[in-house]
Amino acid sequence: PTLKNPPSVWTDGTLSLLTQGYAWLPDQMRTSADGTVRTRLLGRRTVALRGPEAVAFFYDEQHVQRRAALPDPVLDTLFGQGAVHTLDGLAHRVRKGMFMALLEDGKGVEALREHVLLRWREAVDRWRDHPQETVVLFDEAARVLALAVCDWTGVPLVDADDGGELARDCVAMVDGFATAGPRHLRARHARKRREQAFARLIVRVREQQEAAPDGSALDVVARHRDADGSVLDPHLAAVELLNIIRPTVAIAWYVTFAAHALHRWPEHRGPLRGDVSGHLATGFAHEVRRFYPFAPFVGGLAARDLEWHGETVPAGTLLLLDLYGQHHDAQWWDHPYRFDPHRYGSDESLRHLVPQGGGDAAVGHRCPGEDITVTLLAALVTELAGLDVTVPDQDLTIPLSRMPTLPRSGFRFRLA
Ligand code: HEM
Repeated sequence: PTLKNPPSVWTDGTLSLLTQGYAWLPDQMRTSADGTVRTRLLGRRTVALRGPEAVAFFYDEQHVQRRAALPDPVLDTLFGQGAVHTLDGLAHRVRKGMFMALLEDGKGVEALREHVLLRWREAVDRWRDHPQETVVLFDEAARVLALAVCDWTGVPLVDADDGGELARDCVAMVDGFATAGPRHLRARHARKRREQAFARLIVRVREQQEAAPDGSALDVVARHRDADGSVLDPHLAAVELLNIIRPTVAIAWYVTFAAHALHRWPEHRGPLRGDVSGHLATGFAHEVRRFYPFAPFVGGLAARDLEWHGETVPAGTLLLLDLYGQHHDAQWWDHPYRFDPHRYGSDESLRHLVPQGGGDAAVGHRCPGEDITVTLLAALVTELAGLDVTVPDQDLTIPLSRMPTLPRSGFRFRLA
């Protein structure tokens, strides 16, 4: 049989997705008898799946292709045209190798962690100098991460930027990808501005007018050769450089969620302060990535007619893997709405955790920045747990209708 209840054009879910946000897909799943959602997005036949079997199905390269899967409004804001996200097969493998090489031996990640801690402690000193001022954690975390990732990648900040401008541009690119209106326009402008500046930087590096530290991301991207043997044109190199810098700044979302969790469940503070091994901080980082909403799902197109549970999914169908929904499904998580950083003892629990995609990062599309994310988040969770703060009254609600979302106040505090 071909797709039970083939959806008509009248049941296009695009508008519901844009208005319901993170609740849209889980809502559809709840009313589906077989854990599979059939709908349409932007007029295209769409099938959404979740669970370990779905992850294996989705990350089989023979099943799903990424070329032409992402709509322009997402590419023109979040990822950039021509980004690694949109490649398949050999072209993908070779471009992905560039990202993997930066992170391979763990030394790169450790160096980035050191930069982040240095920048974080500078920020804390500044807050201590102005104890009566309220800190907006989201803004400050984004700035700290922007400064540190520039230190690490070898990308110089320009003019009088103290990290704040780059951070705001990176945040805008993420904040505006799934909405129409002013946030979307801000995202487009931010991307355009940064792509142009980084393309000029790549040209200067290649002409040796600007030094790129040996082995830094700036150096590696400037010198990278694609599967056809050619270097990336400066614009594309800028896109990929941004695909390292922007998501590193985006860890500020998780840092803010982590502060929210520490505020809501303060009983974790003490154990985190005594956590010499760092195991608890790592579990806390994993639990933040599971519990709080960030990437809602990933998508690709059926590369050919596929079989899913005895049903044919025609070639060209948009396949969605419901990441956020999977993290709150009692089939795979004991008490999914309980925040429990201790649940990550086994490999099995990590197998179901897919906030940054599933499968193998080296050969598939899984995020190459997962080690960075977990390492930096765990480091900053430890720092946050060690700070004595007062948290003034504020709106800490996290609206699920907004994508991406955040505690409305950005999490405000003062050092105690
Ligand atoms: C891909 C999430 C941090 C670089 C992805 C994907 C997700 C994701 C969901 C798509 C997986 C797929 O399409 O199957 C996140 C989240 C992060 C984060 C939530 C934390 C805030 C990072 C960092 C870097 C990075 C720190 C780099 C330093 C990339 C790249 C891809 C990617 C280059 C494309 C991979 C490909 O298509 O092969 N990420 N990521 N991400 N991420 Fe991340």
